[in-house]
Amino acid sequence: MTGYQIAPSILSADFARLGEEVGRLQAGGADLIHFDVMDNRYVPNLTIGPLVCQAIRPHVDLPIDVHLMVTPVDELAVMFAKAGANIISFHPEASQHVDRTLSLIREHGCRAGLALNPATPLECLDWVMDRLDLVCVMSVNPGFGGQSFIPQALQKIAALRRRIDAHVEAGGQPILLEVDGGVKVSNIRAVADAGADTFVAGSAIFGARDGDGGYRGVIGAMRRELEPVQQAPLKQERAA
Ligand code: DX5
Ligand code: ZN
Repeated sequence: MTGYQIAPSILSADFARLGEEVGRLQAGGADLIHFDVMDNRYVPNLTIGPLVCQAIRPHVDLPIDVHLMVTPVDELAVMFAKAGANIISFHPEASQHVDRTLSLIREHGCRAGLALNPATPLECLDWVMDRLDLVCVMSVNPGFGGQSFIPQALQKIAALRRRIDAHVEAGGQPILLEVDGGVKVSNIRAVADAGADTFVAGSAIFGARDGDGGYRGVIGAMRRELEPVQQAPLKQERAA
């Protein structure tokens, strides 16, 4: 067990068959279902709400990881908790009272997370580390699937990894380090090496559109990239 989790984003799924799609992701080896909520206010796009979360809940046993790209946050966070979400993350700029919103999410039985845009500094975590179960580093500007990974995110992930490790060493609770945006088979290893443990991937997984085989194939290829690097075999042949 590596401790790595793959969280397909259903933003790129076939919305006409969402129940089947989440079932296929589970059969294909996903660890979480990443659920992107956009309000056409905080981000320039509009997606799915608590009714859809409630509708897919019976189709999947995996935790549902709700990423709120909405403002205001509190009312929708409670609605998602009631709709079966397990993790709820929001953007600190979108809530006037970040500490209160994090507590509200936990009070409703969910894990609480903050999602940080590419230009949002890690310092916004300073006084809420004990309220967090997850921090999501955005490696694209939020709003759309299929964008390219912003390379500066790697440094930010590494700095966040140091913060989380220091927090845990000082007796704090564990915090997942999720990365969202432009993650694919070809870069997931570098993202893990920088310090991430939870990987959101939308277009990379749903690009393989032949059902179980396709999703399982991409998720499996991602897992192989995450396996520890094998030592080069020792040379067998010795001078006789
Ligand atoms: C972007 C969303 C992401 C996105 C990931 O605003 O939060 O979850 O859908 O999609 P890909 O993997 O296609 O970048
Ligand atoms: Zn997301």
